[in-house]
Amino acid sequence: MKRILVTGGAGFIGSALVRYLVRNKLAEVLNYDKITYAGNSSSLKEVDSDPLYHFAYGDICDLQAVEKAFRTFKPDSILHLAAESHVDRSIDSPAEFVRTNVLGTATLLQVALDYWKRLPPDKQETFRFQHISTDEVYGALGEEGFFTEKTPYAPHSPYSASKASSDHFVRAWHDTFGLPTLITNCSNNYGPYHFPEKLIPLTILNALDHKALPVYGKGANVRDWLYVYDHVTALCLVNEKGRPGETYNIGGHNERTNLQVVQSICRILDELAPWEKPYESLITFVTDRPGHDLRYAIDPTKIETELGWKPSENFDTGLARTVRWYLDNEWWWRPIREKKYAGRRLGSL
Ligand code: NAD
Ligand code: TYD
Repeated sequence: MKRILVTGGAGFIGSALVRYLVRNKLAEVLNYDKITYAGNSSSLKEVDSDPLYHFAYGDICDLQAVEKAFRTFKPDSILHLAAESHVDRSIDSPAEFVRTNVLGTATLLQVALDYWKRLPPDKQETFRFQHISTDEVYGALGEEGFFTEKTPYAPHSPYSASKASSDHFVRAWHDTFGLPTLITNCSNNYGPYHFPEKLIPLTILNALDHKALPVYGKGANVRDWLYVYDHVTALCLVNEKGRPGETYNIGGHNERTNLQVVQSICRILDELAPWEKPYESLITFVTDRPGHDLRYAIDPTKIETELGWKPSENFDTGLARTVRWYLDNEWWWRPIREKKYAGRRLGSL
């Protein structure tokens, strides 16, 4: 069975990937994670006693610990998701984004290259270093157009600048040293186990607590939303069939303004968890995010035509599922809201 090293497997997307691989017996997995505020071992409860799942506690910037993980686990492939991922936190404290996203990725690349060079030729042929990145590296779109794999990089936030930088390092390790790399740039994800600092889970949980639902600016900024398990199937397909050195954009044509997203959540909650007032009455417009990108939208033609990927959820079905998941899984989010992050405004300068 294939052996996959996943970094950041205790995070939102990483845990969805690990659950998918282990549950479907697709690979033996080592999750290498430092468990920052965003990492949560309870997101892996359903697989943590499975013999296909292993955990190694460590920082991706720690060269020796990363070397040990490669040496002992002997992966056939690495999917690198560990990162600082929240734009608002990157405005408050950019240094950690440079450290983890840039230096951490460079450390992993160095160790992976040394490891790859020593593999027998057949293993070298199939080994992949896959970097899980974001569409935010492309900057902001106006009212029209889409990001393709050829769109020039133009990041604006410290988060997107750090991810753009790490993408460049990954490409350099392919072009200079021949490491078989893959880069995927995905649009905004949503779904179960999403840390409630991000728009969708924050809105759901604030609404359930009858607290204000903060909408930045006029709520006119547009994001292109993808259900997290659709991202996971795309990642696995790229890992299996993607061409080394290539980039694949991932998105499902689900553009919404932020205000539309918040209003849709309110309408679902009005039905599933009725309250004395419509939840929309909690919507509060607040100071805009500095450097707020107007619009993101992905053109997924390459992954659809070259690899045959298709998402299974549209935004309406995925959002309803997500709201129901939060209603049914208070055991997961209540401790986070009480002990880690209660929803205060971040990144407003
Ligand atoms: P997340 O913040 O939920 O999880 C990040 C994980 O990385 C956590 O488990 C954390 O403990 C771990 N981590 C952080 N720093 C580490 C370090 N120095 N060493 C080891 N582990 C460390 O992030 P996510 O939303 O699951 O995103 C995963 C990846 O996907 C990131 O690289 C992100 O840039 C990318 N991405 C995210 C989205 C999105 O919408 N969330 C979209 C496209 C791409
Ligand atoms: P977020 O979930 O932080 O993702 P990203 O910044 O990576 O796109 O934010 C999604 C959008 O929602 C973004 O345009 C900022 C906006 N937003 C709000 O309006 N209110 C909020 O409380 C948050 C967290 C985000």
